[in-house]
Amino acid sequence: MNQTIVLAGGSGFLGKALATFLQQKGYTVVILTRGLAHMNEGIRYVHWDGATLGDWAKEIEGSKAIVNFTGKSVNCLYTKKNREEIIRSRLDSVQVLTEAIRSCEHPPDVCIQAGSLAIFGDTRQVCTEEAPHGSGFSVEVCEKWEEAFFARELPQTRMVLLRIGFALGKNGGALEPLVKLASYHLGGTVGSGDQYISWLHIDDLNHMFLTAIQNEQLSGIFNATGPQPVTNKEFMYTLRKVMNKGWAPKTPTPLVWIGAYLIMRTDPSLALSGRNCIPQKFLDNGFTFLHSNLETALHDLLRS
Ligand SMILES: NC(=O)c1ccc[n+]([C@@H]2O[C@H](COP(=O)([O-])OP(=O)(O)OC[C@H]3O[C@@H](n4cnc5c(N)ncnc54)[C@H](OP(=O)(O)O)[C@@H]3O)[C@@H](O)[C@H]2O)c1
Repeated sequence: MNQTIVLAGGSGFLGKALATFLQQKGYTVVILTRGLAHMNEGIRYVHWDGATLGDWAKEIEGSKAIVNFTGKSVNCLYTKKNREEIIRSRLDSVQVLTEAIRSCEHPPDVCIQAGSLAIFGDTRQVCTEEAPHGSGFSVEVCEKWEEAFFARELPQTRMVLLRIGFALGKNGGALEPLVKLASYHLGGTVGSGDQYISWLHIDDLNHMFLTAIQNEQLSGIFNATGPQPVTNKEFMYTLRKVMNKGWAPKTPTPLVWIGAYLIMRTDPSLALSGRNCIPQKFLDNGFTFLHSNLETALHDLLRS
């Protein structure tokens, strides 16, 4: 049986981590990238444009699974141009992958789409998969993304969408800038500090992807986050503790706005809003977490 897994947009933070993990599990990994075709560390990078059918579609024929990570990073200023690209890159890739799967003689067993917990907006309420959606640009992105993914049925391919939380890993992701701030003694509470961070360790996220690939009973939408979300205040306190940094000044909301626009060149909502999500369906399916405690998860990533 073909054990190839195709990671569309797999050259980024989550894709690279999953690629290494899947290789260790014995799978062959192919990454679809807008960059040049090449081979690196046993992974074949195949060129695509993320929007139109091409030779790359042959990679999907007879593969075990596709995971789609494609999308312009949301870590940017929300100008009209950036907003359009954030949406377009996600919808185009979903649509063209659906086309590619539909034209396969032997379609993959499962197609897994990366989504986001941002669909719940900015809320302190506990959010299982059933919780109401929030409002605002990020919510609109997630809704369009999910609608596009489930728009067309794939008769022979199971479809799973993981609404991913704040993934903590090495070499990139959202943790890196926070570690940098903390190392300069600037790792204080951000804004009110009441906003939730639904975090999970990258190892657990990789296991969730593997579960979605291997468990033929799983389909539909899943919250892919840890079982113990924390407030920003608690997160920053724990980060400082693990990094052996003492007290650090709070960053009041107006300063976050100024810093986000002028220094970080990103939208302040990424730091000031949050959500309190639970991976209800994974828990119901008996998923066990390697890292459910924030302090030990950070210790594992930063001190080991
Ligand atoms: N990291 C997290 O904690 C997190 C949380 C929730 C949701 N997510 C979602 O999960 C997905 C993967 O996250 P990530 O952190 O791995 O993102 P990432 O590092 O930014 O990687 C995304 C990949 O998408 C491709 N891409 C970027 N801009 C594109 C564009 N305009 N058109 C087509 N392709 C484009 C790039 O691949 P090439 O340049 O090789 O083509 C890039 O490597 C994203 O959709 C993200 O929104 C991530």
